[in-house]
Amino acid sequence: MNKMAIRVPFVDLKLQHEPIQTQLQDAIQSVLERGDFVLGQALSDFEAAFAAASGVEYGVGVASGTDAIALGLQACNIGAGDEVILPANTFVATLIGVLHSGAKPILVDCDRQTALIDLEAAAKAITPSTKAIIPVHLYGQMVSPEELLNFADNYKVLIFEDAAQAHLAQRDGYHAGSVGIAAAFSFYPSKNLGAFGDGGMVLTRNSDVAQKMVRLRNYGASQKYFHTEAGTNSRLDTLQAAILHQKLPHLSQWNGDRLTIAHEYDKELAPLADAGIIPIENQSGAGHVYHLYVMRVDDSCPIERQQMQEQLTAVGIQTGIHYPIPCHLQPAFTYLGYQRGDFPEAEKLCKQILSLPMYPGLSSSQIKEVVAAIANTVSRNSNLDKSCSVVISH
Ligand SMILES: Cc1ncc(COP(=O)(O)O)c(C=O)c1O
Repeated sequence: MNKMAIRVPFVDLKLQHEPIQTQLQDAIQSVLERGDFVLGQALSDFEAAFAAASGVEYGVGVASGTDAIALGLQACNIGAGDEVILPANTFVATLIGVLHSGAKPILVDCDRQTALIDLEAAAKAITPSTKAIIPVHLYGQMVSPEELLNFADNYKVLIFEDAAQAHLAQRDGYHAGSVGIAAAFSFYPSKNLGAFGDGGMVLTRNSDVAQKMVRLRNYGASQKYFHTEAGTNSRLDTLQAAILHQKLPHLSQWNGDRLTIAHEYDKELAPLADAGIIPIENQSGAGHVYHLYVMRVDDSCPIERQQMQEQLTAVGIQTGIHYPIPCHLQPAFTYLGYQRGDFPEAEKLCKQILSLPMYPGLSSSQIKEVVAAIANTVSRNSNLDKSCSVVISH
């Protein structure tokens, strides 16, 4: 069978890079000329710029977002003997980061409407060993800073943000990365700010945390060949930092484009609400940076998410699922002792969510094409009941 050509890709990074190709090439060339490939000038410049853009004092670049979580927690003196609360519905790297820090991960459920961590569930998971909570600013929407700060105050725990999907997101006057003691970012290529390979950063306001991070990412050395901690080798390449620094001035515009696209999806999808197509709720207004645009294919929809995704693929529309299996049901982590049914909202979301194409440069006509195709899958699979008469008109 002929595979349908892709009509709307899930992401298109070329659109982002082509207009700034010359600047990117110049930045790469200048690193080649200086030859400071490890811990070079472009790295410190980018660390300072990204920290300032996010409203914090210090940025320490590392090899990946996963390392930013693992080393960032260690830099906050969180490790063996400590419990860290995190949501079950996140990319598995949040959990892996906690495990690599040596702390014990304690998973909790999420809110159905926003897919963000459920702080009431988190409150029930507090024990005398709880040292920190990791709010994951999932899909580009921050967990409410005010609620988080109250939580941290009530239970005397640290907040360590997983902001891998939330570069420059804002809520309640806070930037992502400025709420807790420290925060982890990822510069994986498809992130809102993406490198040409892997990369990550820890942001913090705390100079002790920043200094410990600087040591931990560099074999635990406080000075050359003098090691005060058993650190590791996890540095953000100078070359990647130079590229990221060229892209940073465009990030607000790109985030703005994502927000506009999300508003268009919201508007186009609204008539499908009665047919069970429910976008994940934006409770942070213009501060949401829409790393992903995610909707739920609810129980009331005449078609299941899996079939819908297959039918969209068949007409050339690429979609994603973030994420299909919650952390506690991943085979690698059965040893943690969780069971199916432990986190019903997260489990349900994993079966219902669908991420639609989202990237700066996605056009209005492509958005309409995606929504029309969704409407088609609904109407073709329904018994043409009342909810679907709305749908067919698309
Ligand atoms: C929520 C979340 N946490 C952590 C990570 C890990 O980042 P990385 O892939 O750079 O290790 C990612 C991204 O992949 C992520 O989306």
